[in-house]
Amino acid sequence: MSEQARAEVGVFGGTGFYELDGEIEQVEIETPWGAPSAPITIADFGGVRTAFLPRHGIGHRFPPHQVNYRANVDAMRQLGVRSLISPFAAGSLRPEVRPGEFVVCDQIVDRTWGRASTFHKEFTDGPVHIPFADPYDPALRNAALAAAAEIGVTAHDGGTVVVINGPRFSSRAESKWHRDAGWHVVNMTQSPEAPLAMEAGIPFCGIALVTDYDAGLEEDPDIEPVTQEAVFKVFEANLAKVRELLKTLIPRLA
Ligand code: ADE
Repeated sequence: MSEQARAEVGVFGGTGFYELDGEIEQVEIETPWGAPSAPITIADFGGVRTAFLPRHGIGHRFPPHQVNYRANVDAMRQLGVRSLISPFAAGSLRPEVRPGEFVVCDQIVDRTWGRASTFHKEFTDGPVHIPFADPYDPALRNAALAAAAEIGVTAHDGGTVVVINGPRFSSRAESKWHRDAGWHVVNMTQSPEAPLAMEAGIPFCGIALVTDYDAGLEEDPDIEPVTQEAVFKVFEANLAKVRELLKTLIPRLA
């Protein structure tokens, strides 16, 4: 990392979102956890230095269970990032949350396993159990909702994301279980990104872009279960909205 590389805001790019406009420089960062998924692009967003890192790496190399989440979050910490925005593709579990819409999540259910989900190897100075009752930062959530309203895109205020291990999608039974439990959207990467950001002390905001109805909808038997192609297609069709949202949101986080 160059001596002076700093950023106020960080953005993790997800499925179908690998580049950011306004590049100032690229930085390579080493962390105690190894290399992040890719070099980090520092970009200018209305005067706010923003660090962009595609979590799946260049060419979508890393599947969700192989992303080096610790290196990615630690790299943001090293850059001095104080607000971390995490857009992600998600399946909807309910009819009123439609493909093409956003959900500014307020809760998370972690169903992943076998992922390195903490920076603690051992408790050297006594136990460190961080509070995680509210995984998403309320001020960042409000700023994201205001930005979405300003650009006229539908963003649901609150919602629970259930994080599955992947890389396969859910069975119909799993999807029904997630819906019956009262959860709203399903994704494969919000955990351990969110808990690691909490451990690093960086306010975190997860914004779901809904790409599909997961395994289908009871209300509409014509809806086909999700495919990878559908996720990429819908995300790509809505990428301009994600970029516009960030362009409106980030200058407000100075
Ligand atoms: N990402 C986008 N759609 C998804 C789904 N239905 N399940 C898990 N992750 C997703």
